[in-house]
Amino acid sequence: METTFPTEPEVTTSLEQIQELERTYLLQNYARYPLALHRGRGCYVYDLSGNRYLDLISGIGVNSLGYAHPRLTKVIRQQAGLLLHTSNLYYHEYQGKLAERIAKLSGLARCFFCNSGTEAIEGALKMVRAHGNSISPTKHEIVSLENSFHGRTFGALSITGQPKYRKDFEPLLTGVHFVPRRDTRALEAAVNENTAGIALEFIQGEGGIYPLCDRFVRKARELADRFNALMIFDEIQCGVGRPGTYFGYQLLEPQVLPDIMVAAKPMACGIPLGVIAVNEKAAATIKPGMHGSTFGGGPLACRVALEFFDILEELLPSIQSVGGYFRMRLTELARKHSFIKEIRGQGLMIGVELEFSGKQLVTDGMKEGLLFNCTHETVLRFLPPYILTEQDVDRAISVLNKLFGAAQRPV
Ligand SMILES: Cc1ncc(COP(=O)(O)O)c(C=O)c1O
Repeated sequence: METTFPTEPEVTTSLEQIQELERTYLLQNYARYPLALHRGRGCYVYDLSGNRYLDLISGIGVNSLGYAHPRLTKVIRQQAGLLLHTSNLYYHEYQGKLAERIAKLSGLARCFFCNSGTEAIEGALKMVRAHGNSISPTKHEIVSLENSFHGRTFGALSITGQPKYRKDFEPLLTGVHFVPRRDTRALEAAVNENTAGIALEFIQGEGGIYPLCDRFVRKARELADRFNALMIFDEIQCGVGRPGTYFGYQLLEPQVLPDIMVAAKPMACGIPLGVIAVNEKAAATIKPGMHGSTFGGGPLACRVALEFFDILEELLPSIQSVGGYFRMRLTELARKHSFIKEIRGQGLMIGVELEFSGKQLVTDGMKEGLLFNCTHETVLRFLPPYILTEQDVDRAISVLNKLFGAAQRPV
């Protein structure tokens, strides 16, 4: 998997200079770690000084084939010399092909392409609203989950079940009801004739890697059918190969299909691309002119995503086996370090819940050449590239063992 860098750009700046510029000219909304990345290869990234890090967070689940993957580098170079953008005024060769691929893999019928996860959620919410409006003026309620995360735009925030993200921007969309993720009774109580949509993150990601249970998902499907609501699965973090299947909902046996599935992060391996995949019922809510995107589904992103799906087919077995190996090795660590409360996840989406905040461990991990992050204060989150090997896992485990050994339980 060697890629050569024909003209590797020289490093002409320092972390401190970058930080100073950003402090002066950027909105101060991000709390970045003190690390500036310069390049990457395989599962590793390198900082400005050439220090190497094993990347187990992959741009929050985006760099699904790691860095400088030779097949991706090749198609990106080729496509850059041909056509980067067309707008959706015209056709190009790749959007229809990618829609066909996703439709066939997801069991859904049609796709719409956009540029990010939150934008996919917005489109899905418009479908839900149009569906409800076509039936009754009071049918606009949405049921979502407590502890969920669906994005930062207004609609997505409105169905995000975490007050900390919502509080500064209220009032948001009205008619949203939040229920706890395992509580089928609360779900039953929340869904009625006025419900236009039910939105579920199949495995809650930002909320701390919590998979939904079979019973809850089936109940949601049954209620959506009974009350003629559209069911949305948000697979932005948990889908597109990460759980070891193409989509999270394919882990259930027999499968439960949503009406609308949204995905984004890993699909074009770092080039922005989101998708709304729908059945014919949901597709019928959108008539010509009702929705669109300037950038969505451009030739570069679609061509890269097609290449990604070709490669993903070969990688699915190893996502399952390396993910299983990773969880097994983490379970061994949990036997040694009693402050590890639980290990959760599927495939290469893994959370390690601690009895205390994991923030210091993340910083200490960086110093040891290991990148991961911490979500929901106490959950270490691992979303590594799909090309991770058991050897990479062994390396990560030995660093984690050292970090856990040195970690202090707060008194
Ligand atoms: C489940 C889920 N939905 C939606 C989003 C929003 O996606 P984006 O940041 O691409 O807008 C995220 C981002 O982390 C997510 O994890």
